[in-house]
Amino acid sequence: MSIRFPQGFVWGAATAAYQIEGAVTEDGRGPSIWDEFCRHPGAVGRGDNGDIACDHYHRWPSDLDLLEELGVGAYRFSVAWSRIFPEGTGRVNPAGLDFYERLVDSLLERGITPMVTLYHWDLPQALQETGGWADRATAEKFADYSARVATRLGDRVESWITLNEPYCSAFVGYVEGRHAPGIVDEATAVQVLHHLLLGHGLATSAIRATGVPGKVGVTLNLTSPHPASSAPEDLAAYRRLDLYENRMFLDPVLGRGYPADAEEFYRGITDFGFVQPGDLDVIAAPMDFLGVNYYERHLVEADPANPRGWRRLPDPNPTISGIGVHPEGLGEVLDRVSEYTDLPLMITETGIALHDYVDPERRIHDQERIDFYDGHVRAAADAIARGVNLVGFFPWSFMDNFEWAWGYGHRFGLYYVDYATQERIPKDSASWYARVTRANGLE
Ligand code: FCB
Repeated sequence: MSIRFPQGFVWGAATAAYQIEGAVTEDGRGPSIWDEFCRHPGAVGRGDNGDIACDHYHRWPSDLDLLEELGVGAYRFSVAWSRIFPEGTGRVNPAGLDFYERLVDSLLERGITPMVTLYHWDLPQALQETGGWADRATAEKFADYSARVATRLGDRVESWITLNEPYCSAFVGYVEGRHAPGIVDEATAVQVLHHLLLGHGLATSAIRATGVPGKVGVTLNLTSPHPASSAPEDLAAYRRLDLYENRMFLDPVLGRGYPADAEEFYRGITDFGFVQPGDLDVIAAPMDFLGVNYYERHLVEADPANPRGWRRLPDPNPTISGIGVHPEGLGEVLDRVSEYTDLPLMITETGIALHDYVDPERRIHDQERIDFYDGHVRAAADAIARGVNLVGFFPWSFMDNFEWAWGYGHRFGLYYVDYATQERIPKDSASWYARVTRANGLE
């Protein structure tokens, strides 16, 4: 059955600075927490790091040619804070702004709308050394940096995303310790979360204060959890997990403050003493859209052995990332968010990691990825038919890249990257997606 999307629906593709750029010491870039984290033995698979990554810093013109071939209307990329402010604050590095200006101008020449993420996890290491996001001042420095970028590029950038996935920065970085800065300290994690959200609010207002016309939003990774049964313990476990994965983020940015059950959840861990009067109003700064990254739907049951009280059931059919393929979860997340807000929603990421390989005919037959996207595009279309205000879809990712703690082993791209030669090869999914963008839907 063919499916056509509303006119003006945005088909895009997404990347992030540290995952693709490389050139980590070039043109005055300062180190970030990921440069540092990758150097810790065992932190990243096989000891991989982003020093070279996809060498996009040098190859961006030909990469933009490939984006054009995909037929996308928009490109979501991130600015590396430490290219603009090598020490995070103070001295501006003009070469950093010049790089992103060339990128933006070249996108516009190709008719591709730039969508800029200001923070995709790469805090300048100098700021980590003064406390990182646990320090309230980092939120203000983030707003200054955001305003600086907006002042330079704001006449040409249509949308700004303040933060990418604060869940990962705060909870994967400070509870699990699997991401930079690799700390395991729950009390600090909640404080970090609060300062990230404060940074989002301050940056939103700071960008607007520059007078630029662009839209401003935030990207949250939201999950679709379900209780494994209707037993009261499973329902309670589900509610706690949903608090942790979704409501701690959605509620404050959409003006509801922290959920009432957060106090009980964090009892004995933190009393939220770091929340100052007025902070929640700052965090609730009006937005123009909400970015949703969707990867996970899971069943939750009670687990008395876990102090948090929950257990996510292993997926019966996991991909190499350990998560299942559940397009229906995308619809569930979109419906849920629509109950919170009328803001336009954008799927700023969704995607699947596979062990892609180049066959003897130099083809990459990633039918599983095509099936994945087909299902998710259909789920998006169904959501729109139910009245969800969904305006865009950005596959993760434009090309294979440095996949954080997984290193280069997890390939999410529409384009295959041969890291030894930096050759890019379109996977079958790239050809498939190019047909989707041109048809504005599925034929
Ligand atoms: C998201 C990140 C993105 C990428 C995908 C697979 O959590 O935002 O950078 O790593 O997962």
